[in-house]
Amino acid sequence: MQERVRLVVLFGGQSAEHDVSRVTARHVLGAASPERYAIDAIGISRDGDWVRTDAVAAIQATGGDAPQALEVQGDSVDPSLVTTDGELPVVVLPLLHGPMGEDGTVQGMLDLADVPYVGTGVLGSALCMDKAMAKQAAASFGIPQAAWRTLHVEDLVSLDHDALLRELGPVVFVKPANMGSSVGVSRADSVTALHEALELAASYDEWIVVEEGVDAREIEVGVLGNRRLEASVAGEIVPGDDFYSYDDKYHDGVAETLVPADLTPAQSDEVRALACRAGEALRVQGLARVDFFLEEPGRGFLLNEINTMPGFTPISMFPKLWEATGVSYPELIDRLVALAVERHATRTAHRSTGR
Ligand SMILES: Nc1ncnc2c1ncn2[C@@H]1O[C@H](COP(=O)(O)OP(=O)(O)O)[C@@H](O)[C@H]1O
Ligand SMILES: [Mg+2]
Repeated sequence: MQERVRLVVLFGGQSAEHDVSRVTARHVLGAASPERYAIDAIGISRDGDWVRTDAVAAIQATGGDAPQALEVQGDSVDPSLVTTDGELPVVVLPLLHGPMGEDGTVQGMLDLADVPYVGTGVLGSALCMDKAMAKQAAASFGIPQAAWRTLHVEDLVSLDHDALLRELGPVVFVKPANMGSSVGVSRADSVTALHEALELAASYDEWIVVEEGVDAREIEVGVLGNRRLEASVAGEIVPGDDFYSYDDKYHDGVAETLVPADLTPAQSDEVRALACRAGEALRVQGLARVDFFLEEPGRGFLLNEINTMPGFTPISMFPKLWEATGVSYPELIDRLVALAVERHATRTAHRSTGR
């Protein structure tokens, strides 16, 4: 049996996925074994204040059943001090989605504190959060993707909208480079719609990605590991809206998920291998959900994006994919903690400063 660990769960955060993260935290606290983990739940408010919640014992006593979100409530704590503990080894679980959580910022702080944490490090987190740079990197590794153009807001004044639609259209998707949860993403099939879509995206990030709209199924694969990743079975999203929008993800609930996806054995092998290759290329560590488009007939699997901190409630795609692969929710937490410790040890062993 593993040594008891102080598991510091960071939740909430300053992104659009603040509330999702609070629900996830509630479930993780209910599912993590109290024998294995002394849990310290640290909430981050929408304004970026850090507080230590005192609800942990009550939640552990009732188990993981109640679906309520965990409140960001309690005494203020200094972010630089949350990882110190006198007796137990510490592992941090940053259950944070989007900018200021999944993008390498929190990961950099944890590296400075020299503490093991679950998930991808600074480079992979920043790379996967930035859709423009992620695409550039994936392309250099020969990973198939839809056609795209990267724009900076300063390029917009001189942009030839007609030419862009001719190049990537008739339908394009416009996205802020640094967001998630479909926030700021829109579909455009005319010059007017493209203008509006670019303006919306520019309100979220100075870097914008314009992508060829593909007519495709949406297939997702979970990966676990460090230098080498292993893949879950594949799942499928059937959007309720005309695309998988923010409302579809969190409000209407009309999108359906199919686990496993209805794929041929050859397609399933292919997408699982591609998920590992893409994740390893973009320096994913610990866990990720790798999202694809399946264009059939056509080019087959095209990488859409890699989420380094995927939705993690028990009904989210990532845990469902692993459940179907034979890894239960509590086991998943154990695996992630073990991977965090392993990666920290590897980093420590290869960090000679040359002095
Ligand atoms: N190039 C595209 N072609 C067709 N649909 C797309 C394209 N890009 C995005 N979408 C749709 O928009 C959704 C959100 O886009 P995505 O790039 O995954 O953003 P997010 O990071 O916010 O999840 C996708 O799940 C898909 O339904
Ligand atoms: Mg997505």
